[in-house]
Amino acid sequence: MSNLPLYTTMALTISLILVALVALTIQVFYFSPIDPVLLKIPSPLSSNSSTKNNQLQNVIKLGEGFLKQPEDVCVDHKEGILYTATRDGWIKRMVRNGKWENWKHIDSSTLLGITTSKDGGLIVCDTALGLFKVTEDGFSVIVSHANGSQLIFADDVIEASDGNIYFSIPTTKFGLHNWYLDVLEARPHGQLLKYNPISNETVIVLDDLAFANGVALSKEEDYVVVCETWKFRCVKHWLKGINKGKTDIFIENLPAGPDNINLAPDGSFWISLIKVTSENMGFVHTSKVCKHFVALFPRLVNMVNRVTKSAMVVKVDTEGNIIKKFGDNDGKIISFVTSAVEFEDHLYLGSLNTDFVGKFPLQNA
Ligand SMILES: *[C@@H]1O[C@H](CO)[C@@H](O)[C@H](O)[C@H]1NC(C)=O
Ligand SMILES: *[C@@H]1O[C@H](CO)[C@@H](O)[C@H](O)[C@H]1NC(C)=O
Ligand SMILES: *[C@@H]1O[C@H](CO)[C@@H](O)[C@H](O)[C@H]1NC(C)=O
Repeated sequence: MSNLPLYTTMALTISLILVALVALTIQVFYFSPIDPVLLKIPSPLSSNSSTKNNQLQNVIKLGEGFLKQPEDVCVDHKEGILYTATRDGWIKRMVRNGKWENWKHIDSSTLLGITTSKDGGLIVCDTALGLFKVTEDGFSVIVSHANGSQLIFADDVIEASDGNIYFSIPTTKFGLHNWYLDVLEARPHGQLLKYNPISNETVIVLDDLAFANGVALSKEEDYVVVCETWKFRCVKHWLKGINKGKTDIFIENLPAGPDNINLAPDGSFWISLIKVTSENMGFVHTSKVCKHFVALFPRLVNMVNRVTKSAMVVKVDTEGNIIKKFGDNDGKIISFVTSAVEFEDHLYLGSLNTDFVGKFPLQNA
């Protein structure tokens, strides 16, 4: 090359760079696992320093070291027993005296939402197999298929007093471990399903939800609420009364993505919020090219996704107003809080980033 004229060398170099860029672009678009649209992320203003709330740093750590990423918690009110499902496939429980025990083992690392069942025992979501019923006697699958297809990614569940079981499928396109691709794609693939144990049928209640996550029933069971994580809102679907069959927005413009939701004793709801994007990475969601790039490189996903860096829970009244807000802004003590359950003046917090359940006193908070 040394005796080629300078301009030829330059032209060659530029051509090579162009070819490389074109190849890279083709590669990015051809191999991209997503077909994205743009997404509006809430402005980080809502967490300005003067409104920082770090009250969750006062949590008491229950079962520390014994509970591997306890995503969801529920309470058997009659017995005062707290249950959680951990990544090692255990349903663990804390009895009245504060002692934790291994209760039942299901061979799975993907147990998510759990709820108490009216006739005793628990209903547990497993992203691989569907819904389990777990009792003193053991466990069995209650819903594994819908219309002949295996259920994948059952996420959260609630049982109504008529026996119907409502549960969410965040995304029918991506699995649990690729959930962030659903955020990047920003097309709604989530569903709220209802299983009727009498007819043994599963029907779609709501389709095209934006990452259908937590599910809760109102105190009167006249509506069911389901959270749409990357739309930063929750919707309510009426089950009774003149609005039966209608769907309204329950709360929107949440400061972060709603995860699980649980009914509070006073009829309002506790919602845990996860920060789906770090503040300086918001631009990724406004560019399709960036989305394709990030989707291809797991390391980039970890830079953009910020769920493990902070914690926030809000209490929302039946009108959809935030009436309480607690956080651990920098995730110093607790982060990635996925569920908040109120029982006897305390909040019990599940998390996918801890080895304990957080216990937060509500009196004076
Ligand atoms: C931060 O929040 C406080 C309280 O809501 C508000 O008064 C203040 O103007 C906000 N600051 C900025 C920079 O937005
Ligand atoms: C419920 O339906 C499934 C198929 O969808 C079937 O495998 C199962 O045996 C049925 N259960 C009962 C109790 O009828
Ligand atoms: C199964 O098919 C029935 C009839 O087409 C439909 O109403 C129901 O929503 C379907 N359920 C699921 C989970 O797709």
